[in-house]
Amino acid sequence: MMQPNLVNGTLRYVLIFALVVGVIILLYLAHFPSTHTFCPPRYAQASQYSGQYNKTSLQPPSKPVLLLWFWPENYRFDLRDCKTLLDIDGCFLTDDRSLYSTADAVLIFHKAIKWDLSNLPPSPRPSKQRWIWFHVESPTNTHRIPGLENLFNLTLGYRQDADIIVRYHLTIRQTPEEEFVMPKKDKLVCWIVSNNNPSTGTGVRSKFYMELKKYIDVHVFGKAFGTFLNYEDYYPTIASCKFYLSFENSIHRDYITEKLNGPLVAGTVPVVLGPPRQNYENFIPSSSFIHVNDFPSAKDLAQYLLQLDKDENLYRSYFQWRKYFAAKRHLILQTQEFIKPICTACDYIGKHSEYKVKNDIYKWYFSE
Ligand SMILES: *[C@@H]1O[C@H](CO)[C@@H](O)[C@H](O)[C@H]1NC(C)=O
Ligand SMILES: *[C@@H]1O[C@H](CO)[C@@H](O)[C@H](O)[C@H]1NC(C)=O
Repeated sequence: MMQPNLVNGTLRYVLIFALVVGVIILLYLAHFPSTHTFCPPRYAQASQYSGQYNKTSLQPPSKPVLLLWFWPENYRFDLRDCKTLLDIDGCFLTDDRSLYSTADAVLIFHKAIKWDLSNLPPSPRPSKQRWIWFHVESPTNTHRIPGLENLFNLTLGYRQDADIIVRYHLTIRQTPEEEFVMPKKDKLVCWIVSNNNPSTGTGVRSKFYMELKKYIDVHVFGKAFGTFLNYEDYYPTIASCKFYLSFENSIHRDYITEKLNGPLVAGTVPVVLGPPRQNYENFIPSSSFIHVNDFPSAKDLAQYLLQLDKDENLYRSYFQWRKYFAAKRHLILQTQEFIKPICTACDYIGKHSEYKVKNDIYKWYFSE
């Protein structure tokens, strides 16, 4: 039998020690919400992906050179995809760091920067060279890595006041759509969600969902619910629902993501949770979506959705915008997530050569 004073003595210290270590580990994990944080992104390397550059030719590239310093999350793609997928060809895009001294601009993915800044491009920095701060997360999910003042010239992200804006736009149809054929619907409300980590700001939408599902059936898909959806089923699944929950993970001005574009493309009415309605109306017609704040409670929203389910004409009115505007499919593979931002930077660098400085990116980014 164990001596009581031994339990009170040595063992107690061991337990307290274990507890303290445990708390420290928990605090550390809570501080770094993203799962990606644990796999440090690898350096970009000269590779077959820098396919545009012909090293045996002594011809310097005739277009401005944009150097991709890090491959975001290490999701590599063929740099020629800018041309083939998005018809963007305005710069000479490369990941070959040996071209650093000749690069007109360098694209630097924020999340890949080390806290001691040791993996930033080296000094001396060519005087003509512009650095682009590349960040597509909301402020809630942004680490304030210190020391990034007075380094960048341009910002790239979803914000309307970024220098290089990446978002999905409706485009104006040259000729009105003849007739919209509604996809066959066999579900009422659907939601695809992969991230349920509360430290990324998802608490608000989780709470709303828990309340909503008391009053209406919600079909849920995605990693967060243990039902992984194949990529090829993404658009067809959304199309088969009358409503789709376009709930952003955190609420910030202009932070309106592909979660809205999906249902607009598929022919489904988005129910949005995010910034205020006016902010959405900067991008899509007021009668193309339902905002959760249009209703005093989740229960009232559910009642309205049930009413629309019975009122075919009212439901159809949410699709009138399609006659004049078109939504364009976005790339859905996770590994394709950064193709559009990178190519958009290429397009910008091909067209702009103004002097610009962004002194304090955080002051800008965290001021809503
Ligand atoms: C590279 O350039 C050289 C000289 O201009 C040319 O002979 C060669 O065919 C080119 N190679 C490729 C892969 O385009
Ligand atoms: C880019 O920004 C840096 C740092 O603020 C500045 O020193 C440099 O002159 C700027 N260059 C251009 C071409 O805008």
